[in-house]
Amino acid sequence: MDSILASIKNVFSSLLGKASDNRAVGIDIGTSSIKVVELKKEGGKVLLDTYGALALGQYNTDGHIGQVTNLTAEVLAKALKDVLEETKITSTNIVLGIPSVSCIIFILQLPTEIEESNLPLVIPNEAKKFIPVPINDVSLDWYVLPRREDSGTEARVLAESGGGASMSVLVVATLNETLSKYTDVAQKAALPADSLEIEVFSHIRSVMTRELYPVMIVDIGASKTKLTIVEHGIVETFRLVNHGSQDMTLGISRSLELTFDQAETLKKQYGLAAPSEYPHLAEPIKQQLAEIFQETNATILAFEKRYNKNIGKIIFTGGGAMTHGLLDYAKQSFAAELAIADPFAKVEAPVFLGGVLKNTGPEFSVAIGLALKKMQ
Ligand SMILES: Nc1ncnc2c1ncn2[C@@H]1O[C@H](COP(=O)(O)OP(=O)(O)OP(=O)(O)O)[C@@H](O)[C@H]1O
Ligand SMILES: [Mg+2]
Repeated sequence: MDSILASIKNVFSSLLGKASDNRAVGIDIGTSSIKVVELKKEGGKVLLDTYGALALGQYNTDGHIGQVTNLTAEVLAKALKDVLEETKITSTNIVLGIPSVSCIIFILQLPTEIEESNLPLVIPNEAKKFIPVPINDVSLDWYVLPRREDSGTEARVLAESGGGASMSVLVVATLNETLSKYTDVAQKAALPADSLEIEVFSHIRSVMTRELYPVMIVDIGASKTKLTIVEHGIVETFRLVNHGSQDMTLGISRSLELTFDQAETLKKQYGLAAPSEYPHLAEPIKQQLAEIFQETNATILAFEKRYNKNIGKIIFTGGGAMTHGLLDYAKQSFAAELAIADPFAKVEAPVFLGGVLKNTGPEFSVAIGLALKKMQ
């Protein structure tokens, strides 16, 4: 198996002795790779036990590392078993990530007179207006948002409801087709499929650090970029951008007349900091980032105008956030504070791994957030 794997299980076993059973495993099945993280609780602390990633391209007949795939549940289950075997993860206390692309997330404003017990009847009816597919094709989840005078939610709600009292309900509609595919993958890999979470919520857990202002999370995945504005732990806006890190590889491959694999390697090795022998390497990367940044800025502006408050910070995550020189380049496009996600900072890990974990962190932020769900 040609895996991009970083297992530190042995390091931890030797440092900490026999592990307890108090473990949780986060599994993020992305379009280009599967990421797994195993955490364990010991003495009230959350420790990183093992983590690993496996490129899915190799499960395609003409596959390449970094390539976006669309594999069947059978093949994904095989890949999942492979990565768990390689990382020696045996705990079945798993949380499986559901891709945000299969969800619609929005806030409904409802009159406060509605009893909470009536919400199961009212919400599907109201939600229909926001969902472009038949309501029977999705599963709905919702959460009544607390009223927060301090954060401006109160004022916003009143303004949107024409001055009358209303309650805000965060609604998540997930395609049933995706839910059954992911449940199927887990079952075929002989794992329980009782704990699922949409990746947006895992990100909040792993990349945010109690910021008191609205934050924009930019997840540059292989296939798409996911934009999420979060305030006080609540998703305020979620948008998809049809440009991802694979588009940078394809752009390099076209303009420098290289194979996909050569382009992927150069992208990862140099990114925007290309040496003089590759004077045109940065251009196709910048082209894709420009599209992503433009959409990000448009989403930020729409939020700021609507709620009359500023985004205080932009956090880049996903494998694309590991592009060398990304932050310096992004500074030209954004006024807010910029940061690269550092999700491993949420867990205890051997000090000597600090640098490695910081560099590889963005790729694992969903998987860490998923595992952390069971550590709270
Ligand atoms: N050091 C690096 N520099 C630039 N790009 C990188 C680097 N490391 C990984 N990538 C890119 O990140 C992408 C993979 O990121 P990630 O694992 O977040 O995607 P994914 O979860 O599989 O995709 P998606 O979320 O779109 O389904 C690949 O396109 C890969 O080339
Ligand atoms: Mg992803």
